[in-house]
Amino acid sequence: MAARPREIKLVIIGDSGVGKSSLVLRFVTQSFKPFSESTIGASFMSKVIELDGQTVKVQIWDTAGQEKYKSLAPMYYRGAAAAIVVYDITRRESFGTLQRWVSELQEKGPRDLRIMVAGNKKDLEGDRQVAAEEAEAYAESIGARYMETSAKDDMAVQDLFLSLCQQVP
Ligand code: GTP
Ligand code: MG
Repeated sequence: MAARPREIKLVIIGDSGVGKSSLVLRFVTQSFKPFSESTIGASFMSKVIELDGQTVKVQIWDTAGQEKYKSLAPMYYRGAAAAIVVYDITRRESFGTLQRWVSELQEKGPRDLRIMVAGNKKDLEGDRQVAAEEAEAYAESIGARYMETSAKDDMAVQDLFLSLCQQVP
């Protein structure tokens, strides 16, 4: 019998509507839904990837961004090895929410959690409200990497998940 593949538990967190479910859907199924429904509670998806020649199963917990589900988040980031914290580059408010999530992860999350900061909806460059340099400087200040993505146009989505998984020991 083949050995069970290594597993990485990953959680994706951020304000409602920033595109968390869309990023997961793009990563796992290479598709995009223009009218994605807001997540209730949380949802789960997994994908088997090759990482440095090793088979790895990525278990992704897609949390709900709506305020009423905020108290559920610890159930999903507890025990996680990696977290993607997402904001929408066209909505500055979501960048503030992201910073509050990072503080919570730092205070209450797993000690060795690897964090990636993602600015999504890069396809809407004309509506940008947060400069890439600002987000990059913030990510650097918390010892994380920053990437800009578009779940819609499939920009850097695979790279986002893979490079985060790469950082997990
Ligand atoms: P909650 O589940 O409520 O926390 O939201 P979410 O972060 O999962 O957002 P979701 O993926 O449902 O996307 C919200 C809306 O943004 C949907 O209408 C998506 O189609 C749209 N969207 C997601 N990603 C992108 C993107 O990269 N570009 C554009 N233009 N729209 C996007
Ligand atoms: Mg969602």
